[in-house]
Amino acid sequence: MPHRAFTRKVETKQATVAVIGLGYVGLPIAVAFAESGLTTVALDIDHEKVDRLRGGVSYIPDVSSDAVATQVQEGRLLPGTDEAVLDGMDAAVICVPTPFTKAKSPDLTAVVASAEMVARHLRSGQLVVLQSTTYPGTTEEVVRPILERTGLQVGHDFFLAFSPERIDPGNRRYGVTNTPKVVGGCTPACTKACVALFEILIAADQIHQVHGPRAAEMCKLLENTFRSVNIALVNELLKLGDRMGIDLWEVIDAAATKPFGFMPFYPGPGVGGHCIPVDPYYLAWKAREYDFHTKFIELAAETNASMPFYTVRKVTESLNRGGRAVKAAKILILGVAFKRDIDDPRNSPALEVLKMLAGQGAEVTYHDPYIPKVALSEDRFLTGASTATLESVPLTAARLEAQDCVLIAVAHRCFEFPWIVRHSRLVVDAQNATKMIQEGRDKIVKL
Ligand SMILES: NC(=O)c1ccc[n+]([C@@H]2O[C@H](COP(=O)([O-])OP(=O)(O)OC[C@H]3O[C@@H](n4cnc5c(N)ncnc54)[C@H](O)[C@@H]3O)[C@@H](O)[C@H]2O)c1
Repeated sequence: MPHRAFTRKVETKQATVAVIGLGYVGLPIAVAFAESGLTTVALDIDHEKVDRLRGGVSYIPDVSSDAVATQVQEGRLLPGTDEAVLDGMDAAVICVPTPFTKAKSPDLTAVVASAEMVARHLRSGQLVVLQSTTYPGTTEEVVRPILERTGLQVGHDFFLAFSPERIDPGNRRYGVTNTPKVVGGCTPACTKACVALFEILIAADQIHQVHGPRAAEMCKLLENTFRSVNIALVNELLKLGDRMGIDLWEVIDAAATKPFGFMPFYPGPGVGGHCIPVDPYYLAWKAREYDFHTKFIELAAETNASMPFYTVRKVTESLNRGGRAVKAAKILILGVAFKRDIDDPRNSPALEVLKMLAGQGAEVTYHDPYIPKVALSEDRFLTGASTATLESVPLTAARLEAQDCVLIAVAHRCFEFPWIVRHSRLVVDAQNATKMIQEGRDKIVKL
C-alpha cells in the first residue's frame, strides 16, 4: 500500500491524530501535534487527567497550562476518555506505560489494551505507532496480531511502526521537537508514513530510519542499558574509592577533562524512574527466549539496585561515628523525586532509603518542593497492602537544626546547599551537591 495519500493528508494538515496515554510522554507529544496544526484527540483512561486538560490545566511540568488551554480553546486538542473518538482517525500514537511485574518480567497490559482499542476502530489507510519502551518484537509479535485480527493487513491496509520516545522530563534543552527520532516500520511504506507524521514536529534530517520495528525497539533499550551499565560502573568504583580513600567524584571530574573517549556518569543513591531501572529487565527477559543471558546488563542492574542499601549504610555509619544510633534518630531526606528538578517519584531510590531507615526505627521525614505528598505504595518494594502517604515537611532552619542527619538524596537546583549545611549537624551528601562548600565541611559525609 503506498504511503503517499497518508503523507499528503499529513502535509496538508488534513490528517487527524489520536495520542493514547497522556503521561510524561503522551501529553507533550499530543500538545506538539495540536500546535503543529493537526487535530489531535488525546485519550486516557484517567478521567481526572482528562478533566484537567479540558479545563486548560497541565499536570506535566514540561507542558505549560497556557499551551494546553490555547490548543483546547482553539479546538485542536480534544482530550477524552471515550474510545469512540478513534473512529475516522488517520493516525494513532500509543504512549501507555510498560512497567514490569514483581518478578521483573514485562507487563504489557496497557499496550495490549490500547492495541485492542485501536483495533476496534481500525480502518484502511490508518497509521498506528507504538512509542512505549518495550522489548524487541513487541510491535510485530504483540500489537500486529491484535490489529490484524480485524481482517486488515499491515502493509496492505494499514501502516504499523515503532518509534521510541526519548523525551527526558525536566530537560530544558531537548524536547519533543528537537530530539532526533528513530523510526522502524513493519514495511518500508509503514516507515515512510511514520516519518511523514513526525516530520510535522521534527526536521526531516533529524528522523533516523531503521529496518523494522525490532531495531527501533532495541535502539531505545540500548540507549537506556548504556546509561544503566555506565552508572553501575561508577557506582561500583564509588564503593571501591570509599574503601581506598579516593574521592570518586573528584576522579570523574578529572577524567571528564579528556576531550575524547570519555563521557562522565555520576554515582548516586540508586537509579529510579520509568526507564533505567525497568528497561534492562525487558531486554534480559526477551533475551532468555533466545537462550541468551545478558550478564552485563543484569550485573549492572544488580549493582544499581544495591545503592539504596549502600546509602542507608553510609547514614547509619555516619550517625554511629557521632555516637548516635539510627533507632529514634531524626533524619530528613532532601528530595524524593527520581532525579533532580522533576516531580516524578516513580521507583525513586530516595523512597527506598526512606523506608529502610524508617524500618530501622529512625524518625524519617522528607522535603521535596516538587512532591508535596507521596504514596509509599508507589515504591517498588511495597505491596499494595501498605499505602502510607507521607507529606513533604517545610524546610526551615529550626527543622534542620533539630535533625540528627540530613540526607541529600536529590540535588534539586532550588536547594540552597550552603544554608542547609550551615544549619545541619550532619549531612550525608549522595549527590556531591556540596562540593563547592567550604564552611562546615567537617559535617559533610559524601556517599
Ligand atoms: N517518562 C519518561 O521519561 C519516558 C521517556 C521515554 C519513554 N518512556 C516510555 O513511554 C511510555 C509511557 O511513559 P510515561 O512516563 O508517559 O507514563 P505515564 O504513567 O506518565 O503515562 C501513561 C498514561 O497512560 C495512561 N493509560 C494507561 N493505560 C491506558 C489505556 N489502556 N488507554 C489509555 N491510556 C492509558 C495512564 O492513565 C497515564 O496517564 C513507557 O513505555 C515509558 O517507558 C517514558
